[in-house]
Amino acid sequence: MYRRPQGRTATDAEYHRAVSAARKILVAVAWPYASGSRHLGHLAGAYLPADVFARYHRAVGNDVLMVSGSDVHGTPITVRAEAEGVSPQEIVARYHAEIVENWKQLGFSWDLYTTTGTETHERVVQEFFLTLLDKGYLYKKTTDQFYDEEAGRFLPDRYVEGTCPHCGYPEARGDQCDGCGRTLDPTDLVEPRSKLTGSRPVLRPTEHYYWRLSAFQEPLLEWLRTREGWRPHVINFAIGMVEEGLHDRAFTRDLDWGIPVPVDDLGPGKVIYVWWEAVMGYYSAPQEWAELRGDPDAWKAWWTNPEAESYYFVGKDNIPFHAVYWPALLMGHGGLNLPTNVPANQYLTFGGEKGSASRGVGRSIGWYLERMQPDALRYAVASVFPETHDTDLSDAEIVRRVNEELVATWGNLVNRVLSMVHRYFDGVVPERRGLDDADRAVLAEVDATLADAGRLIEEVRLQPALRRLMAGAQAVNQYLSERRPWQTAKDDLPRTGTTLAVALEAIAGLAAGLAPYLPFSSCRIHELVGLEVPDHGPRWERPTIPSGVRLGPVEPLFAKLEALDDAEG
Ligand code: MF3
Ligand code: ZN
Repeated sequence: MYRRPQGRTATDAEYHRAVSAARKILVAVAWPYASGSRHLGHLAGAYLPADVFARYHRAVGNDVLMVSGSDVHGTPITVRAEAEGVSPQEIVARYHAEIVENWKQLGFSWDLYTTTGTETHERVVQEFFLTLLDKGYLYKKTTDQFYDEEAGRFLPDRYVEGTCPHCGYPEARGDQCDGCGRTLDPTDLVEPRSKLTGSRPVLRPTEHYYWRLSAFQEPLLEWLRTREGWRPHVINFAIGMVEEGLHDRAFTRDLDWGIPVPVDDLGPGKVIYVWWEAVMGYYSAPQEWAELRGDPDAWKAWWTNPEAESYYFVGKDNIPFHAVYWPALLMGHGGLNLPTNVPANQYLTFGGEKGSASRGVGRSIGWYLERMQPDALRYAVASVFPETHDTDLSDAEIVRRVNEELVATWGNLVNRVLSMVHRYFDGVVPERRGLDDADRAVLAEVDATLADAGRLIEEVRLQPALRRLMAGAQAVNQYLSERRPWQTAKDDLPRTGTTLAVALEAIAGLAAGLAPYLPFSSCRIHELVGLEVPDHGPRWERPTIPSGVRLGPVEPLFAKLEALDDAEG
């Protein structure tokens, strides 16, 4: 039990450090709209990187809280519901279930995956609203907004499309331009058209709460300019955006699907803008997690402890919301941690086009999971994580990555070594009799691989880290070709035993390193060599494998893939 030092009051930071030496890491993952199937671009952009990062930090002993949930509000949901003639609830229920199933099959290690439709979220968002109101950051204002006279409705956000005033992209939506990534108001659009009727909207006055975002221009710039370790494309976009000038933004919308405004002076039919409440999910989900485990204050270790770190995994189009708007909301609220890093990925493209659920580019995660093992999909996607530039991924490339890298370099290595232990030693881990330089060198190479990959993952360079791990596997392959245990087995069994015992330990070490990427097969490898696997996966280290342990059966870890075409699909 921690006691505060006598004679003086410990700071919060000292207190939190003393209670636990482990770092507190909030892994905050973009909340996917439950408005359609999520595709490989989403997987590569935010979700898989987050799971890899969270698994690594647990493996080194840190306290990770990984949260997200389905974003169930906003015009992406209502536009889809209206197009299908069903209720928003029905759309949300269908796609939330599908997304949850994707995560389950992929083995995602959420501490909580919830939705923005919970009571806790509504309560936390409304409290947040009232705090901002109290502090003078929200005020009422009547402005002219687009209205569809044929439909008799206001047209918030995605109900309007038109040409981007900044870059000329002709298909810009009322909330954001896919051409340049800037966030927009519908009335910014050139040649606006209603998504409901195609007609040209007219302007009508309507009263809303506005957010005094302009007040955060200077504090944000100062904060952004002192960030370290952020990806250049993220920090440059964020600083550029703030330097262009931040204007006050509407905080509410004319919609009846969303979180009601907690003061009743706007009248009915007004909800809080989906983006401002969705980002608050990073703050409400830890509270829901804490309530669920019966320790209602547990979330504070990640939010009010200044030593805690927070990493926001999002795609490039989400940079404004996580690197500018969410920090501004947090500054306005006060007392809560600002993001440590927003390692946004660039786009994964398919035949040069950005994946898009609404435009049908890029196949769904579920489509791939019907055709591939989850670890194989995780491997192929992680090997092209678009961390520094947009990256194209074709089905043929997925097949090549799996067959020529995952199976050829890693799966076959594990198989060969296990098979030889079965063939020459009856499946029992042989004794080591004196390691020579080459034996020690390959084990040292595994240790160096873990050290290098760990450093890269700390910097959120997950794709180079995976490449480093595969280079480690290549080194073990090299060791085997030089040692030729299948040859020495003919006349020198002790030497063969040492080689195979060393190789087994090297493999177990690499499996620990690969576990954040390949959780299913890595846990399987550790089980096969008789290691106990902690709940959250293998520890980040080269384990010791005692001689005399009986190995599990040899089974191919990964299936080779045929072409992934849709012939029977
Ligand atoms: N729903 C948004 C999308 O799918 C992402 C929301 S991230 C959040 O692009 F932080 F705002 F929740
Ligand atoms: Zn644009």
